[in-house]
Amino acid sequence: MSAVTGFSCIRCDTLHATTDFSKGGEVYTCPACGGNLQVVYDYDEVKRAVKNGLRGGPETGIWRYMPFLPVEKSCRKPPLEIGRTPLYRAHTLASRLGLPSLYVKDDGRNPSCSSKDRASAVVLARAADTAFDTICCASTGNAASSLACLAAPLGVKTVIFVPENAPQAKLVQLFVYGSTVFAVKGDYDDAYDLAVSAAEEFGWYNRNTGYNPFTREGKKTVSFEICEQLAVEKKKKKPFFAPDAVFVPVGDGNLISGIYKGFSDLFETGLIPRVPRLYGCQASGSDSVTKAFQTDGVLRPSEGRSIADSIAVRLPRDGDAAVAALKGSKGDSIAVGDDTILAAAIDLARCTGVFAEPAGAAPLACLKEAVERDMVGPSDSVVLLASGNGLKDVDAAKKATGEPAVIEPTIEDLKRHLRS
Ligand SMILES: Cc1ncc(COP(=O)(O)O)c(C=O)c1O
Ligand SMILES: [Zn+2]
Repeated sequence: MSAVTGFSCIRCDTLHATTDFSKGGEVYTCPACGGNLQVVYDYDEVKRAVKNGLRGGPETGIWRYMPFLPVEKSCRKPPLEIGRTPLYRAHTLASRLGLPSLYVKDDGRNPSCSSKDRASAVVLARAADTAFDTICCASTGNAASSLACLAAPLGVKTVIFVPENAPQAKLVQLFVYGSTVFAVKGDYDDAYDLAVSAAEEFGWYNRNTGYNPFTREGKKTVSFEICEQLAVEKKKKKPFFAPDAVFVPVGDGNLISGIYKGFSDLFETGLIPRVPRLYGCQASGSDSVTKAFQTDGVLRPSEGRSIADSIAVRLPRDGDAAVAALKGSKGDSIAVGDDTILAAAIDLARCTGVFAEPAGAAPLACLKEAVERDMVGPSDSVVLLASGNGLKDVDAAKKATGEPAVIEPTIEDLKRHLRS
């Protein structure tokens, strides 16, 4: 039995009972105020379940954390390995930035090549408990390609709404996996609203980020992995070891609030002594969360533009939860320009071998600024979340790299070019 006891509203704190599917449908947002919902667990129950063993067993990837998940053990799971992505020690960047304990979590190694697979897997498992046979989703690209990838082998139909300007690779993924795709004239926010209305109109399950409370529950699994991997890396006796600071790209704010939830789950069950400071990493053209956090906590629409398309949103759909995560973890939020993000993508690739899409490189761009502003220092162990693979958006990367030299197929011409 899952240890879920209900849902609490992030905005007004009202506690709601668990959804009764027999009465039809999913309750996505707070019936009292419309705020996003947070899944609530009985942590004593989780502790008991964890005692019986997190390690071992037949489950791999995120399903090893079943006591912390809002689905039944027997739930229908996508037959691909989700999570268990590598955590690399970033030696070159560490010495350059004066941070001896610096790591990169390469979450672009998930099946559809982004952190979104963690969320889609849990949402699909949840939807499988229902009569829904079609799931829809609005997305800047990754949430959709992830849903399409994981739904395909389960035989679940997907209807996807993307903004007109979604990168080609992400679109191609959707078609390859057999989704029904609509490119909405407008931006991500327009696609988002249409997906909500369409799900209501046609009775589809809705995976929209933030709006569906289970996306956060999937994303939190990256925190569990980071702590387990660090415990091994630092040769600790205990199975979990928390870093001091984690840098997370922020668009809608669901990823950072999920990561906060993951660390909080470990803290509440006594597995780590404190929650790491979380740093929100944004593009300056899409900086609602940063501005809200640094002023009165109220989210106001930004321009919603960035080369880092995955974090380009006007009004973050899980912004309240993101601001709460920054406050609760005693972290901060940083916004940097597109050129800085592109330069960081190149730096990350050349120093660590991890090729991240611009959103996934934003954490390194923001870390550099955090070091300059003394927000982190040499005594901190720091993790950067590279949340999406660079091959998702080669056009963006090309803007920061050169074109090949065209040469004759002769050694002489090669020598001439090498000299110049
Ligand atoms: C690669 C990547 N990184 C980061 C994010 C940001 O997550 P969120 O929108 O939940 O803040 C996204 C969201 O699409 C993403 O695709
Ligand atoms: Zn509410």
